[in-house]
Amino acid sequence: MLRRKRLDEISWEDFNRLSLEEKAPYLVQANGRPYHVLIAQQFNREQLDGLCDLATRIRRIAKSKEGMRFLSDLLCHKRAMLDFTQPSSRTFLSFYAACQILGIRPAEVRDPSISSEMKGESREDSVRTFSSYFDMIIMRTPLQGFVEKMVWELSNTDRPLPIINAGSGKDQHPTQALLDIYTLQRSFEKNGELANKHIVFCGDLARGRTVRSLSRLLTYYPNIRQTFAAPEHLKIGQDIIDDLAAHNVDFTVTTDFKSTIPTADAIYMTRIQDEWDKTAGESSHFNLMDFALTVDDMKQLPHTSVIMHPLPRRHEIDPAIDSDPRAVYWRQMRNGMWVRSALIATIFGRDQEITHYYMMNLK
Ligand code: NCD
Repeated sequence: MLRRKRLDEISWEDFNRLSLEEKAPYLVQANGRPYHVLIAQQFNREQLDGLCDLATRIRRIAKSKEGMRFLSDLLCHKRAMLDFTQPSSRTFLSFYAACQILGIRPAEVRDPSISSEMKGESREDSVRTFSSYFDMIIMRTPLQGFVEKMVWELSNTDRPLPIINAGSGKDQHPTQALLDIYTLQRSFEKNGELANKHIVFCGDLARGRTVRSLSRLLTYYPNIRQTFAAPEHLKIGQDIIDDLAAHNVDFTVTTDFKSTIPTADAIYMTRIQDEWDKTAGESSHFNLMDFALTVDDMKQLPHTSVIMHPLPRRHEIDPAIDSDPRAVYWRQMRNGMWVRSALIATIFGRDQEITHYYMMNLK
């Protein structure tokens, strides 16, 4: 268990300078449960297993009216602010639904142009304002480093509250990585644990934050081979490569996606994120279809493999593939609601109660 360090005992400059691993002890509670959720590096294997088990219990409990009644009473005294100043459908709605499942009353800001920021208020002051009325902030922002700054700032007020990173710039998306792990685990559970698999990531790996978080979590599972297939100028960041090398992970970086298909156990497709481009057309100096999955490609993919995508998709998966049993991206999306419920319940210390209810009523 990580020994907790306190954010009100370290300056912003010193905290900001720490490595991601060194930041992890500042994000947990004294009992080892997560408090803030900021980076993939703060989770360990035991916590991932705990969250996946809890997600499954919540999923099963939620099937009945009595179960839903039990769940929605757990946190009915809490309120959450969903502060999403960058477009989102799935992450927003699954967090919203997770709050509803646990009885938390959610509120939202999605458009800063109708808040006091239009009167010249800083983003920091806006978030501090939300902290006065709510018990948790779930935040998506295009600004890299902003969630981290708010985690430190709000921990240094007289009313600290947990902040969950729901996607920060081109950097990290830790809760997407949790639902991806849950999806992989469920996909392969028939033959035991998530181990000895070849995971292929494809698409815009330079700006896609989901892969950056997931590749780290996969290092906790035995003998997972990771392949990163992207156009040369959109390849995975050097920091990820260095991290995988430091963890002795077997990985490959390639521009030839199609050659990876026959040996892939899971293909994780991503879209080209050209909204980050400074010059129009910056992303399009390659053949888009070289990094897409077609119905023809499916003949090469083993029948036990799965195809994932954080969504939204563009051209990179032919919709005709949706009905193939290997396409799990719609299930993956729904898994987000269960894992996020499990995470929030754990942050607020209701995990053991859920497990107890499950053992008494559904085991
Ligand atoms: C992703 C994101 O926002 O990082 N979507 C998501 O959260 N499911 C991926 C993307 O936008 O392409």
